[in-house]
Amino acid sequence: MQELGRLDDLPLAYRESLGAQNLVPLWPSLRSVLPPGTPARRTQPVMWSYEALRPLLMQAGELTPIEKAERRVLVLANPGHGLEKMQASAAIYLGMQLLLPGEWAPSHKHTPNAVRMIVEGEGAYTTVDGEKCPMSRGDLILTPTGLWHEHGHDGKEPVVWLDVLDLPLVYYTETSYAVEGKEQDVTATRLERNYARGGVVPSPVFSRGSARRYPMLRYPWADARAALLSLAESQPDVEAVQVAYVNPENGSDCQNILGFSALMLRPGETLNLPARSPAMVFHLIEGGAEVAIEANRFALSPADTCCAPGYTPVTLKNRSASEPAFVFVADESPLHKKLGVYEVRA
Ligand SMILES: [Fe+2]
Repeated sequence: MQELGRLDDLPLAYRESLGAQNLVPLWPSLRSVLPPGTPARRTQPVMWSYEALRPLLMQAGELTPIEKAERRVLVLANPGHGLEKMQASAAIYLGMQLLLPGEWAPSHKHTPNAVRMIVEGEGAYTTVDGEKCPMSRGDLILTPTGLWHEHGHDGKEPVVWLDVLDLPLVYYTETSYAVEGKEQDVTATRLERNYARGGVVPSPVFSRGSARRYPMLRYPWADARAALLSLAESQPDVEAVQVAYVNPENGSDCQNILGFSALMLRPGETLNLPARSPAMVFHLIEGGAEVAIEANRFALSPADTCCAPGYTPVTLKNRSASEPAFVFVADESPLHKKLGVYEVRA
C-alpha cells in the first residue's frame, strides 16, 4: 500500500492557513480512518471479577447514600477506551448497580436503551412503564428508550444487577438525555406470563389497541434456562445451545441497538465463535467457563463479566466435565445489521 504524505511534510505556514479556515488535509489521516482490511479497535479484551468488585460496590453503599447517587453504580470501563469514557465497547456500557434494602431509585426515563441482568439478592423490583417487574438472579428486565423506570427494594439483603446500555452510541450521536419523573402507579405485573406458552401470543384481532412496541419487559431466568436445557436435550447435535431474547410478537431483537442472548455450554463443551464485526460481552450466570480472546484466557466464575472486541474469534469452554455452564451474552449485532456493516469472517 502506498505511503501517503505526513502532516509535517507540509510547510507550517500552510498548515496554519488551513487551521485558520477550519480546514484539515485528509491524506495524513486517511490510513487511520480507513485502515486496510480490518478496523482499528479501541475495545480490548477485559475481564471484571465479581469477587474483586463486590467489596468495592458494598463500600459504595456505605460511602454514598442513594439520595446522593440516584443510581449507585460502578461502571465496568474498558481501559482501551480510557476509563473516563465509561464504555465497555464502542456501543456498550456496563455498570454494576447496588440497591440496599428499603432504598428507592427514583423514576426517570432516557433516550439510551437499558437492560438489567440480576446478579444477586431477592426482593427488589423495577417498575417499567407501570409494570412492576420482580428481580431474581438471571432475570433480564428491559427499560427501552423513553419508558419510565424506577427501582425499589422490599427484601433484606443487598441486590446487585448488571446494567447494559447503548449509552456510548447514543451519547456519541448527541441524542443522550434523561427526564426525571414522579413515582409511577403500578398498573400491571408479570405481563411476561402472556407469552409463556410457545406459539401463542395475545391476539390483537378483536381489540382496538395497537400492539405495544415492547410487549415483554421481563424475561425470567427460570424460563430461559428451561428453554436451553430442552434445546440441548431435543437437538443434541445443535452447534450452539443458545436462545435469543426477542420481541415475542414479531420475533425481532428485543431492543433496537444491542442484542441479548443466553448460551448453555454443555459439560466439557468447547464452542468456537467466528470473528464477527460486533463486540461482545459475556456474563456468567451459572457454572464455570473459560473465555479465550486473542492471547487472553479469562476463567469466569458466576457473576464474572468480560468483553471481546469485534472482528475477533472467541472460544468458550465449559470448565466442568459434569455440569452445564450458562452465559448471558450482549452484543452490537442489531446495530451493525441496521448500519449494514455486520460481518462474519470465516
Ligand atoms: Fe435509567
